[in-house]
Amino acid sequence: MHRLTTPKFRDRDVTDEAAYLNRRQLIAGATAGLGLGLAGPSLAAPQGLEPNTFEEITNYNNYYEFGTGKRDPAENAHTLTTSPWTVKIDGMVDRPGDYQIEDIIGKAQIEERIYRLRCVEAWSMVIPWNGFTLASLLDRVGVQSGAKYVAFQTLERPSEMPGLRYPVLRWPYREGLRLDEAMHPLTIMATGLYGKDLPNQNGAPLRLVVPWKYGFKGIKSIVRITLQADEPFTSWNDANAREYGFYSNVNPRVDHPRWSQATERVIGSGLFGSRRETEMFNGYGDEVASLYAGMDLSENY
Ligand code: MTE
Repeated sequence: MHRLTTPKFRDRDVTDEAAYLNRRQLIAGATAGLGLGLAGPSLAAPQGLEPNTFEEITNYNNYYEFGTGKRDPAENAHTLTTSPWTVKIDGMVDRPGDYQIEDIIGKAQIEERIYRLRCVEAWSMVIPWNGFTLASLLDRVGVQSGAKYVAFQTLERPSEMPGLRYPVLRWPYREGLRLDEAMHPLTIMATGLYGKDLPNQNGAPLRLVVPWKYGFKGIKSIVRITLQADEPFTSWNDANAREYGFYSNVNPRVDHPRWSQATERVIGSGLFGSRRETEMFNGYGDEVASLYAGMDLSENY
């Protein structure tokens, strides 16, 4: 693990730091126009957010289809074939179909979003994603009026995913969002990080990123997106409903039954690590708290 030093970035992982910083500015400008009523740069880069290094982001992962150890995905995920790749979009949409990944990405407006990632296991990182809003994809396929939820499914290919031999979860990995969460401008489909294609261990070629929720909602290597009226089956909720709810919003006041969620271990913060206080909605409360107005968040965890 590398320590983040005083400079804003480690330029080693980015071909041209000046270009990278420049792009950040552009994005800050672009997101200011989203109509969220935010001060420009805070959406993409809340104050003081320093990205973890490329090495940290790609060598400390959860991707159980490749093993349950943090190093397993980096060691095993190279076997995954991500081309050709088809995403089935079905259910309550006007234009259902099997979409080629090139078609999805080619028509998308790719932006950079620097987001905190807070795992339910109480560790965190900061990741500079590249991707596009899920809303733009859903608008393209046309969501029908009866749809209330979006269900997502990961590839299930035993020949390339050694972890599927173990019944840790009921495969394939599945996740879901309420439609208003899916349409929120902070919710993105990531296709890359640090300006490079998404590494397999981070969920190539297409993964969900919902920065105010625990990391397990960010389902990787998506092959199916379904618009539906009912709350979707979600893998971790199925494995242990008492520990993992459907919402899984980051909440320092609602502990996991087996550990506190009040603080988090910051990955890459030196030999002994450092901890920071976990923020409500992972620091994105100004943007998303209204989605849950009137809801009891300890009941709807
Ligand atoms: N998606 C699939 N298909 N399989 C997984 O095991 N792990 C989740 C999520 N998405 C997981 C997954 C968990 S627990 C976390 S914290 C994040 O991916 C980790 O993302 P990262 O490895 O890119 O940091």
